[in-house]
Amino acid sequence: MSAQDQQAKLDQIKADILQKNVCPNLAKTAKQLVMGDGNPDADILFIGEAPGKKEDEQGKPFVGAAGKFLNEMLALIDLKREDIYITNIVKYRPPNNRDPEPDEKEAFLPYLAEQIAVIKPKLIVLLGRHSMESLIPGLKISQVHGEPKRYNGQVYLPLFHPAAALYNGGMRQTLIDDFMRIPTILEKIK
Ligand code: URA
Repeated sequence: MSAQDQQAKLDQIKADILQKNVCPNLAKTAKQLVMGDGNPDADILFIGEAPGKKEDEQGKPFVGAAGKFLNEMLALIDLKREDIYITNIVKYRPPNNRDPEPDEKEAFLPYLAEQIAVIKPKLIVLLGRHSMESLIPGLKISQVHGEPKRYNGQVYLPLFHPAAALYNGGMRQTLIDDFMRIPTILEKIK
């Protein structure tokens, strides 16, 4: 499948979410649906939690403070946003950036699975515990961050969420150290 065909399929997933009116409570308070961004043929797929204020305004994931930090870490491993694909579990901003509810995460999960099936990444980087719990349940992020996990044939790398680590010196350095392992982990999957 060409990258163009992959993008067309991703556009169809977005149209399905809108047409089926997924999570109408969040749709009502959010400005817009925030699907994903980047290269639909990427080796690495990053999955965050849910859009925040900036993402809700701009319609793209990780464009606020956490996104800026993420871009800095990508630069450390010689990657740009155009080299990766990035999305969230929940595709509408929860009011006042509250944590997404379990039923909200569940409602979007089939569409996330479809996105993964189209992109077919070698590595899925899970940003934070919400993202980890939705895809590889039963683990503690404090114990498994930075360790690649193979689950149902897919390799995942759980990391601390950049927003949580942004203003916490120790966690920030741990996240950077974990992040720097991505090229080696990817190399081993190939
Ligand atoms: N935090 C997330 O989890 N996702 C975004 O898109 C922005 C901030």
